Amino acid sequence: MDELIAAGATIASARRAIASAFRAADLDSPELDARLLIGHALGLDHAALAAAADRPLSDEEAARVTALGRRRLAHEPVARIIERKEFWSLPLVVTPDVLDPRPDTETVVEVALAAIDAAGPRRAARRIADLGTGSGALLLALLSELPDALGVGTDVSLPALRVARHNAGRLGLTGRARFVACDLGSALAGGLDLVVSNPPYIPSIVIPTLAPEVRDHDPRLALDGGPDGLDAYRAIAADARRLLAPGGTLVVEIGIGQLEAVVALFDTAGLVVDRAPHPDLCGVPRAVMAQQQT
Ligand SMILES: C[S@@+](CC[C@H](N)C(=O)[O-])C[C@H]1O[C@@H](n2cnc3c(N)ncnc32)[C@H](O)[C@@H]1O
Repeated sequence: MDELIAAGATIASARRAIASAFRAADLDSPELDARLLIGHALGLDHAALAAAADRPLSDEEAARVTALGRRRLAHEPVARIIERKEFWSLPLVVTPDVLDPRPDTETVVEVALAAIDAAGPRRAARRIADLGTGSGALLLALLSELPDALGVGTDVSLPALRVARHNAGRLGLTGRARFVACDLGSALAGGLDLVVSNPPYIPSIVIPTLAPEVRDHDPRLALDGGPDGLDAYRAIAADARRLLAPGGTLVVEIGIGQLEAVVALFDTAGLVVDRAPHPDLCGVPRAVMAQQQT
C-alpha cells in the first residue's frame, strides 16, 4: 500500500486509495473501513474528515494510515484495530477479550423492546439480565432504552466483564448495571422481567472454517457452542423458568438454521414460545422469544 499513499497525498485521495486496495482484496465494506481507519489514524471524526478532505497528509500521518490499512488487509477487523464499535448507536470499547458486537445482534434488542412495549410503558421498574454479556452490548443497549430498569450482565470471562464494566461507566450506566462472573444465569436469583442472551452458538467443528476476521480475532469462548452449537441454549432452557418472573420474557440470538431446534428446546422447557423467525437485516431468522406463563 506504500505506493498507493504517495507523499503529500490528500486525505480524500488516501481514502480512495485505501478503499480501492480493500476492494481489490475483496474485503467487506471497503469505503466504510477506509473512512474509519483514516479517521482513527488522524484522530478525526466523520465530519472533520470530510471537512479536511483536501488537506495533505504528513509523512508521519501517511505511515500511520498505511500501517492500519495493512492490518485490515491481513484480515484484522476494523473494530479490533480501532478498539471501538458502535452498537445500537452506543459507542463501545472492544478489546481482544470480547466478541466484536454485530449489527445482527440488534435484532435481539428490537424483539425485546417490542415485547416490553406490548406489556406496558418503558418507564417501569424492571429487572433484566444479559447472559454472556461480552462487551455489555445487549445489556447497555437495553438500559439505554429503559430508564428505570436495573440490569445484570454475566460472563465466564473476567477480562470481558472488565470491558463491560468500563463500557457501562463510559455510558453513565454504572448505577443501573451490575456484572457477575458465573455460568450463564447460575448465580442469579429469579424474578427477572427480561432475560436476553447472545450465547456462543457455532458448532465446534465449524470454527476452523470461519472467516479469519472471526476465527482469528473473536475469543473462542464467545464462539464455541459445543458439538451441535446448542449447548448454551440447552442450559438456558433448563434454567429459564427459575430465572423469569411470571410473564417474563426471554430473547436469545440464534445462528443460521437453529430456529427449529431452539424453539423446540424452549417449548420442551415449558415456556410459551413465539415461533416467529424475527429476521435480521439480511432476512436470516436471528432471534427466538419465549415467555414464562403469567
Ligand atoms: C457470542 S458472545 C456475545 C457477547 C455480547 N453479548 C454480544 O452480543 O456482543 C458470547 C459471550 O458469552 C460468554 N460465555 C461463553 N460461555 C459462557 C457461559 N457458560 N456463561 C456465561 N458466559 C459465557 C463469552 O465469554 C462471550 O462473552
